Amino acid sequence: MHAMLDAPEGLAWEETPTPEGPAAGEVRLRVAWAGVNRADLMQRAGHYPPPPGASPLLGLEVSGRVVEVGEDVTGLAPGQRVCALLAGGGYAEQVVVDARQVLPVPEGLDLRQAAALPEVFATAWLNLFMEGDLRPGERVLLHAGASGVGTAAIQLCRAFGHPCFVTLGSDAKLEACRALGAEAGWNRHRGSFVEAVKAWGGADLILDPVGASYLADNQRVLNGDGRLVVIGFMGGRQAELDFGRLLMKRQRLIGSTLRSRPPAEKGEILGALQRRVWPLLTRGEIAPLIDRSWPIRDAAAAHEHVRADANIGKVLLEVSGER
Ligand SMILES: NC(=O)c1ccc[n+]([C@@H]2O[C@H](COP(=O)([O-])OP(=O)(O)OC[C@H]3O[C@@H](n4cnc5c(N)ncnc54)[C@H](OP(=O)(O)O)[C@@H]3O)[C@@H](O)[C@H]2O)c1
Repeated sequence: MHAMLDAPEGLAWEETPTPEGPAAGEVRLRVAWAGVNRADLMQRAGHYPPPPGASPLLGLEVSGRVVEVGEDVTGLAPGQRVCALLAGGGYAEQVVVDARQVLPVPEGLDLRQAAALPEVFATAWLNLFMEGDLRPGERVLLHAGASGVGTAAIQLCRAFGHPCFVTLGSDAKLEACRALGAEAGWNRHRGSFVEAVKAWGGADLILDPVGASYLADNQRVLNGDGRLVVIGFMGGRQAELDFGRLLMKRQRLIGSTLRSRPPAEKGEILGALQRRVWPLLTRGEIAPLIDRSWPIRDAAAAHEHVRADANIGKVLLEVSGER
């Protein structure tokens, strides 16, 4: 099969051994589309190695068709249209994955749309509702609101009745996020978000992929009993924590990653998505926001677009291109 190899001279779409399997509990997929994630750029830069046992190839999510199922796999059959959350290996013509990490394409969506779902909706669901334990009506601050994760999280907040405020890097992005359901927002290039978020009413939960550079301001706008869920450190990995605020406001600091979780935990998250979010997608109440796609051979150009913070929503790579 062909796969995208990360050679020192750049990304190259080359002949490479087909992955072994499927073993018991696994399925083999023919990849139609692969999603691009910020993590792929970090992996290329050497800051985010694949977890032990995972494919060394790039790619955390795909859509495609089941080719073969291993022993003990129920509910999935050859020919079925699916999408999958991977620990790696998605930038390839075929991938072998634990069946618990595979979901059917929501009815009414095509394979291109389905590739934009697994990583960002699983991340948003996990951190808003499982780690963040959102209670009815609680208010949410989403940093990087126009990112793939942000555009999924805005829509989940709207669908489940949580007012949300976004921070992002341009007024055009703010308009797009408002159209998805954000109540208000702040362009981060205009300085600190603190006054704007306080005027809006503060946050009970913050979903934060920025880390160090936002820690002090996050603590200032987090309401009593609020949760700060950190999912990235685009703004650095070390900062000072104000223990006074942490204690007096009973703030909770939660760190979370999806990729390194075992298949059983990923399966739990995807099971919740299938029950709670797939029906909303089928009814058209929410939809993945797709920015652009490139042929897989042009993955380097797709990465440059993401690196430049130019995307609003998901960037995809066309592998077989089947819809
Ligand atoms: N922990 C997990 O399990 C998990 C899972 C998935 C994703 N993530 C993290 O979630 C984030 C979003 O992922 P994605 O793939 O959806 O990203 P994405 O679509 O590439 O968007 C990232 C956006 O972050 C903003 N940004 C970049 N550098 C920043 C900085 N220094 N300070 C503030 N904002 C900055 C930029 O938007 P603006 O210019 O508009 O602000 C950029 O477009 C990434 O940090 C990723 O690593 C974590």
